[in-house]
Amino acid sequence: MIRAENISKRFSSIQALDRVSLQVNQQDIFGLIGPDGAGKTTLMRIICGLMSQDEGQVRLMDQAPELIDRQNLGYMPQRFSLYPDLTIQENIEFFGSLYSLPKQVIRNRAKEILEITGLSPFTNRLAGSLSGGMKQKLALTCALITRPALLVLDEPTYGVDPQSRQEFWRILYQLNHQGMTIMVSTPYMDEAELCTRVAFINQGHILACDTPQNLKKPFSQRVLEVRTPCQDPRLFDNLEEVEDASFFGYKYRLVVSDGPQGQQAIRSYLAAQGLDGIIEPVSPAMEDLFVIMTGKDD
Ligand SMILES: Nc1ncnc2c1ncn2[C@@H]1O[C@H](COP(=O)(O)OP(=O)(O)OP(=O)(O)O)[C@@H](O)[C@H]1O
Ligand SMILES: [Mg+2]
Repeated sequence: MIRAENISKRFSSIQALDRVSLQVNQQDIFGLIGPDGAGKTTLMRIICGLMSQDEGQVRLMDQAPELIDRQNLGYMPQRFSLYPDLTIQENIEFFGSLYSLPKQVIRNRAKEILEITGLSPFTNRLAGSLSGGMKQKLALTCALITRPALLVLDEPTYGVDPQSRQEFWRILYQLNHQGMTIMVSTPYMDEAELCTRVAFINQGHILACDTPQNLKKPFSQRVLEVRTPCQDPRLFDNLEEVEDASFFGYKYRLVVSDGPQGQQAIRSYLAAQGLDGIIEPVSPAMEDLFVIMTGKDD
């Protein structure tokens, strides 16, 4: 569906993308996961043919992005400019008319999509008075009006409350179930778990790309939970084997460079300070993986 090979893009002194390659297969929910400034928007815009790359090649449905039928591609930009003084229905009709779709076709499709996105009861509400989550759903509805085979969504759930985020993902699953291929960017690591395949991107580099399950496999012993009576958030700051430490009041979550060695080092360290401790390997979360991978990359 999408094949990007060795894409590089520079903005004066900033290398936004550095030889990025990835492939999105039909019916993937492909997550592009990375922090602010990682290069997500730049990559998505290049993939959608909205910006040109300095180097590398993109194929979209086996064609150059600028040659594909635009109706096959739904793109929801990071900052979608809805018309605040138009209603939901009017925004959708306006958007559909940009693709020269007949009015009746737009109406029929809008009805169908509004049902999926749960906006049906609000079609006469002005876009400007919608909540953040509803605005994002409207932006999605507009991106769906051409019934695209591929949907590219740039941080659709950013700043949206947890319940609306859940609803949004339910909609994505439903669309995917109907056969749509989806590429979605997010800074939220927990959303990586919801994707069928994930690419971690940081400072213009793809750090890893695979299914969440496969990404986790090599790190199964490297995340440890430690319970000890000491409650100092900086307790493990100077322990060499610990790559990252989070403190949760009653426990620490540590990422170590090597599972068994790390456990040994922590045990000795606690003992040296006269502290009791329970150390337990836990299954890594996407956030842990990202920490491990960015650590390796530095
Ligand atoms: N038009 C531009 N001119 C100059 N620099 C740019 C431009 N667009 C992006 N950049 C820079 O390129 C890098 C990648 O930006 P990009 O917007 O792709 O990141 P992102 O992952 O989408 O970040 P965010 O999560 O904040 O949206 C950043 O350092 C950004 O400042
Ligand atoms: Mg962005």
